[in-house]
Amino acid sequence: GGELRTWAGELNPVLSPVFVRTPEGLKQKVIGATPLLTSRESLDALAAAVKAYDSGRGVWPGLKVAERIEHVERFLTAMRAQRTAVVNLLMWEIGKTQPDSEKEFDRTVDLIVETIRALKELDRTSSRFVQDQGIMAQIRRAPMGVALCMGPYNYPLNETFSTLFPALLMGNTVVFKPAKFGVLLVRPLLEAFRDCFPPGVINIIYGRGRETVGALMESGQVDLFAFIGTNKGASELKRMHPRPHRLKSVLGLDAKNPAIILEDADLDNAVKECITGTLSFNGQRCTALKLLVVHRKVVDAFLAKFTAAVDTLKPGMPWDPGVAVTPLPEPGKGTYLQGLVDDAVGKGARVVNATGGQASKSFYSPTVVYPVTREMRLATEEQFGPVVPVMVFDDDAEAIQLVVDSPFGQQLSLFGKDSARIGRFIDAFSNQVGRINLNCQCQRGPDTFPFNGRKDSAEGTLSVADALRVFSIRTLVATKTT
Ligand code: G3H
Repeated sequence: GGELRTWAGELNPVLSPVFVRTPEGLKQKVIGATPLLTSRESLDALAAAVKAYDSGRGVWPGLKVAERIEHVERFLTAMRAQRTAVVNLLMWEIGKTQPDSEKEFDRTVDLIVETIRALKELDRTSSRFVQDQGIMAQIRRAPMGVALCMGPYNYPLNETFSTLFPALLMGNTVVFKPAKFGVLLVRPLLEAFRDCFPPGVINIIYGRGRETVGALMESGQVDLFAFIGTNKGASELKRMHPRPHRLKSVLGLDAKNPAIILEDADLDNAVKECITGTLSFNGQRCTALKLLVVHRKVVDAFLAKFTAAVDTLKPGMPWDPGVAVTPLPEPGKGTYLQGLVDDAVGKGARVVNATGGQASKSFYSPTVVYPVTREMRLATEEQFGPVVPVMVFDDDAEAIQLVVDSPFGQQLSLFGKDSARIGRFIDAFSNQVGRINLNCQCQRGPDTFPFNGRKDSAEGTLSVADALRVFSIRTLVATKTT
């Protein structure tokens, strides 16, 4: 509601995944605390957003597009000044390497700049006239109401802002809840939010999801729900809304993206792409490759090169130069990953790289597991961490069936050279996943491309331009011409 309030209630300490030396031994560093709001304060935040929207007559939706853009541009200037603070918090809170933290920040600024450019274009072209059967109509784009935006811990700045700013720019007001890890990095931006937007346009809540966000959903006053996270979380929250037919959702959900490596693939390229595809940010990307499916004729050659490359990845602190393996922010993640590896080993697979399967404090070493078969948890469960299951296949139908049988359908990668055969795979996969990557890893970017998925992996499409459409509605003004 445009105020920075002093909090006298319960606090939630924020622990870094980085352990530091203390008189009592190595301990996770406490790097701050956030307020644990109750449902009452969360509903206050919602009430401020509802008031600023005021059924479309409020201060924010009432502004011209150019005026809204001015507010966002002022915010961008203030945000750029906080780059160092935000990048440091990304490293300390979620263990992202310095280059990747800087990339997340810069990419987010670019995304907002691009969204402004796309909005100017949409504004120029969307208010158009259509005529048919003696009726003429003007099509206008209108905001939808109050948006609730929630992003995940692996891109706590970028993915939350990739829905928040399109929602705002289209004239909606917003409540957002920072990710559970990556929560402090909003702190350096609070004054900018307060100073650059009218009260109630952006409202930030902290606390336990069920109590805070649950209360917002139950109120029935959330019109737009932008959520990037797990299917379980999204379904639970959506179910709480009393009028689900009035809730528009855009969701980025679970994924188990496979890479299919054919026997004629350029193995050096496949290895290079699969290393970053599986293990950048320790595999904690929704678009990470989470299953490698390799043709039997090349599996030994592929594994020899791939495991050698995995074993060169350097562990260290996020700010150390050249590191690739960093602390994992989720408590208990190492135990969970070890459970997946143990399940596979118990069913006949092996850890095949020299440095695999080592857990220490919040580190888990990149671990390649082979041969993974369908009855192992690693074949279907989204590990969201540095464990790489490798499966073998003999014929194309088997690889296609694996994709068809998956409940997920975000993306896949296909490595090979025979274009006729690749064409057949593309035909088979076009209605299974949102993006097929040829001879390269899966990824979301460039952010101007549509980002979506099939089956249980997504609802709706995000991108710079798609998001503007997602967060608005077309209204027709029609009249008879004859
Ligand atoms: O975690 C999910 C992100 O959308 C992945 O984005 O492919 O750019 O790393 P990225």
